[in-house]
Amino acid sequence: MSKYEKTSRITVPEIRGRKGNEKIVALTAYTAPMAALLDAHADLLLVGDSVGMVLHGLPSTVGVTLDMMILHGKAVMRAATRSLVVVDLPFGTYESGPQQAFASSARIMAETGCQAVKVEACEGIPDTIEFLTRRGIPVVGHVGLRPQATNVDGGFKAKGRTAEERERIMAEARAVDEAGAFAIVVEGVAADLADEITAAVKAPTIGIGASPRCDGQILVTDDMLGLFEWTPKFVRRYASLRETIDKAAAHYAEDVKSGHFPGQAEIYTLRAR
Ligand code: KIV
Repeated sequence: MSKYEKTSRITVPEIRGRKGNEKIVALTAYTAPMAALLDAHADLLLVGDSVGMVLHGLPSTVGVTLDMMILHGKAVMRAATRSLVVVDLPFGTYESGPQQAFASSARIMAETGCQAVKVEACEGIPDTIEFLTRRGIPVVGHVGLRPQATNVDGGFKAKGRTAEERERIMAEARAVDEAGAFAIVVEGVAADLADEITAAVKAPTIGIGASPRCDGQILVTDDMLGLFEWTPKFVRRYASLRETIDKAAAHYAEDVKSGHFPGQAEIYTLRAR
């Protein structure tokens, strides 16, 4: 393909144009095989820093590094040809200011080929979003429950229980919107607050544990596939892969121990010439 030929990949303006229109279908992806499976169904694939907890067994997303995000971003970009791919900026790689955020984002975009980055709302983030956007880096904002702030918040708790907290989250969403984010993830807030945010901002909102009236929805793919024992309240399980894998592994172990695997069809019988 010539570098001027149009690809069929969904673009940032297309996602922005979904505000109040067709719902945005978003899922997380961290690996090439999963991205290949999800690509036909999702408009947006997020290489989320949840990868640290889901695939690497970390207790939170705080330990995730830029190198980890780039490794997983590359894998997803190799397999997804249609969805817009967004990679999370991990903890400690953007919060100290626009220059640090630009260096991290530029590395992620150049090395993975992804189309955009996502940042969690924190002190000074509107200036950073504006700085990145003006320099050719499309940004998705993230407000409400912020997994990278788990140490300040004392865990993963739904947000917006007090009037003060609601006001703060609404102000953050407005500021992120004004700064030029092309979409905003709204996580773990009361449905009526998510609705108010959706009505107040120009960017499409993508809810997770938020409201069905957001402009789109995102789930951690491994959660919706039932790969974990515990499922958060806001997750709908569309499959029970944990049970499927457990049964398959038990069956394999039984077959190996009893000598039923490998069978005649699963061995090579090479004849000497
Ligand atoms: O890292 C992630 O998977 C996310 C989603 C939960 C939105 O940020």
